[in-house]
Amino acid sequence: MRLGVPRHHHRLTDSTNSRARELAEAGTPGGTLVTADEQSAGRGRQGRRWSAPPGKALLASLVMRPLEKRHALLPLAVPLAVSEAIESLAPVACRLKWPNDVWIEERKVCGILIEASPSQGWAVVGIGINVGIEGHEFPEELRDTATSVGHGATVEALLAAVLERLESWTEAPERELLAAFRERDALRGRRISWAGGAGTAAGVDEAGGLLVESAAGRLVSLTAGEVHLTVEQ
Ligand code: BTN
Repeated sequence: MRLGVPRHHHRLTDSTNSRARELAEAGTPGGTLVTADEQSAGRGRQGRRWSAPPGKALLASLVMRPLEKRHALLPLAVPLAVSEAIESLAPVACRLKWPNDVWIEERKVCGILIEASPSQGWAVVGIGINVGIEGHEFPEELRDTATSVGHGATVEALLAAVLERLESWTEAPERELLAAFRERDALRGRRISWAGGAGTAAGVDEAGGLLVESAAGRLVSLTAGEVHLTVEQ
């Protein structure tokens, strides 16, 4: 699937994911891309908001269709592609906070929101990357936990690199994808907690779930979606 064609660019829209969902419902082909300089109601995971100053973040949503078995690990393929794209443009190292946050030095640089309609056979992959946002431009409550790519990287160069890497990772064998994700796993060995429990992160299983070992030595697998993890320092 050629990603990024056709492309619909908005100077301002409420949410590129909302625009892409409308296009998907209307039958747009797989690979369709929606981008914006600014969003008035950007959406994050678990009903949170996502905001960024105009022109300083990559705000993009891709329509993936048809959905095939190889897309099962899409939630892992996207942050992996984003990490490689960032590293191709800036001298930084990206690590991954399962399921799909990208971190630079333990601060979030990218968030991903995947919304799918399996019955209609499409998924919308929403990607928000802080490209050139200065520390003081982040909302007060994010100043200690968010970061930007920086180093003069541009939104368009980053977009091209993300599309290229994502085309490659969506075609890759699952085994390679899992190995590459595991190499960047920032949680392994860390104490984590969520609404249903707590334990030590113990890697990612074959289905892309997060393995967590409880104090009693019991292993559980968390599925991406609604789990909100807290990582202890
Ligand atoms: C998260 O909570 O970490 C996910 C954030 C996803 C934000 C991106 S920005 C482009 C796309 N449009 C949206 O409304 N959300 C996603």
